[in-house]
Amino acid sequence: MTKAKVAVLISGRGSNMAALLYAAKAADCPYEIVLVAANDSEAAGLTLAAAEGIATFAHSHKGLKRAEFDAIIDARLREAGAHYVALAGYMRLLSPEFVANWEGRMLNIHPSLLPKYKGLNTHAQAIAAGDSHAGCSVHIVTAELDDGPVLGQTPVAILPGDSEDSLAARILIAEHQLYSRTLADFVTRERSPDYLLAKVRERALALPQVDEVTSHGMPCFGILKGKKFAYVSHNHHGDGVVALLVKTTAAEEQAMLIESDPARYYRPAYFGDGWVGIRLDLGDTDWDQIAERLHAGWRQVAPRKLLGLMDIAEEF
Ligand code: GRF
Repeated sequence: MTKAKVAVLISGRGSNMAALLYAAKAADCPYEIVLVAANDSEAAGLTLAAAEGIATFAHSHKGLKRAEFDAIIDARLREAGAHYVALAGYMRLLSPEFVANWEGRMLNIHPSLLPKYKGLNTHAQAIAAGDSHAGCSVHIVTAELDDGPVLGQTPVAILPGDSEDSLAARILIAEHQLYSRTLADFVTRERSPDYLLAKVRERALALPQVDEVTSHGMPCFGILKGKKFAYVSHNHHGDGVVALLVKTTAAEEQAMLIESDPARYYRPAYFGDGWVGIRLDLGDTDWDQIAERLHAGWRQVAPRKLLGLMDIAEEF
């Protein structure tokens, strides 16, 4: 199993980062930590990460515009090969560009039962409100602070006489459990055949006059009552992979793609040279690129009249 590559961003103590890092040491953990980065070179978590053999990076945000600083971090994350970002006590508001670059691939942990108590001082607010439970949430990061879709939550009972600190300490225990489990589920989901098929389906059916049928036992996309341009194969002939088989646009294209990335592209058995297999289960699929490939494959089989109409529409 290839592990999903995760970078963790911290600003201080980094106990959640440590929880992710130690969970990742289990052989069956579906993710690995490829980088721990901080906006403060004094962040204590950096020392721990380095001692555990994880690459670290620190750069102060002082004197830099938000987008400038985020671009430095972004470049480092890409260099490290990260496919996901886990924010863990990262005390920075993020630029819209950075959030957009990692859309759907950046998680955060927040010490409240969202949507309650966004922002700071969550523990004090929960106590002051007389809540029976506080807790923690892991959510996808969107442009609004602490606002993205919640992936998992753990309620933590507030005890009589709890102070802000005593409650925070107990919630932290729950955070450490919740974050690694939620992150593991999140990266695993992206490799499940049903999830991958749904992603392809959404893109293929968005093309004009396309329908889905079952052909050779596989979900297959083609022009209505016409030719096929894409299949989703799952364990085809026992190969154990989930892949998109899509029509290529030129005779040499299959060979070129395989040469460019032999771990991802392959020659699909029984399909000949006019098709290419693209592994979808490697955990780092570029879905915009898949949409482009589907579009290109669709163009190969779309009736001329339809293509003509599309080209005219695109000119406007
Ligand atoms: C945690 O309480 C987390 O929920 C919040 O910031 C704190 C970070 O603690 N976002 P640590 O650095 O992970 O120990």
